[in-house]
Amino acid sequence: MGWLQGDVAIVTGGGSGLGRAVVERFLNEGARVGVLEKSAEKLAKLEADLGDAVVGIQGDVTSYADNVRVVGETVARFGKLDTFIGNAAIWDFSTKLVDLPEETMDRLFDEMFHVNVKGYLLGARAAARALAATGGSIIFTVSNAGFYPGGGGPLYTASKHAVVGLIKELAFELGPKIRVNGVAPGGMLTDLRGPGSLGLGDTSIASVPLADLVKQCTVLQQLPEAADYAGNYVLLASKTNSSASTGVIINCDGGMGVRGLAEIAGGNDL
Ligand SMILES: NC(=O)c1ccc[n+]([C@@H]2O[C@H](COP(=O)([O-])OP(=O)(O)OC[C@H]3O[C@@H](n4cnc5c(N)ncnc54)[C@H](O)[C@@H]3O)[C@@H](O)[C@H]2O)c1
Repeated sequence: MGWLQGDVAIVTGGGSGLGRAVVERFLNEGARVGVLEKSAEKLAKLEADLGDAVVGIQGDVTSYADNVRVVGETVARFGKLDTFIGNAAIWDFSTKLVDLPEETMDRLFDEMFHVNVKGYLLGARAAARALAATGGSIIFTVSNAGFYPGGGGPLYTASKHAVVGLIKELAFELGPKIRVNGVAPGGMLTDLRGPGSLGLGDTSIASVPLADLVKQCTVLQQLPEAADYAGNYVLLASKTNSSASTGVIINCDGGMGVRGLAEIAGGNDL
């Protein structure tokens, strides 16, 4: 039997990359999943590939009405909600402070924080009552950028640090009925896009030489696949296996926090 047998979850941004990997893994663990996703094309593919155990809702995480809709339609279809996973985000392609365009900086800030931070807040608000009814939990996707500089520019890094704050505050406020945790992955080749206000709405992180970069700055020296991170969500969602965990963030970034002050060794004698 799967770890999430009979559970119902929502994943935002479940149309590609990490979100899609989490949806597939949750189905394999026995859950049914509602997905809030802005790309109609990705949603159509998701539903065609995965069938009736998934309900896709096209919408934008920055809209409270769309968050309410995904909760309503998921509960209507599957009867309840056990886990809400805030995951949709955009990246700033490591645009440094001095390179932020003065004319569009305001819009850029709003776009980044609206998707990456407000999206999670609205989703949590929309899902809270349904989650309280099942003793459920919230999981937010953070990033290495929630802890360390250099994985983005100031806007992405600040937005992911804000997500860490949101997890702690909501874990405090929503207990004892709802657990609130996070997963902080390192790099992976996905379709992660940039802000439209930087002209990067159609550019994906796959255009960056991520494998070399991640190899240089992680102890494990490898670029994981999105699916390699999905088990962390299963663990935190599982009422049996994580009943004592709230306010926890799993850093699964290949060891960025333990890389030490010396050059990372090319290997060892083991
Ligand atoms: N790719 C990486 O290297 C990396 C590293 C650390 C953390 N992350 C985090 O992983 C999470 C998932 O990103 P990914 O890398 O899988 O990228 P992705 O673009 O493949 O997946 C994100 C999905 O969210 C959707 N989306 C974007 N904005 C939306 C909006 N406003 N409303 C609804 N849906 C929207 C996209 O269409 C896409 O399907 C993000 O929180 C990201 O910050 C990614």
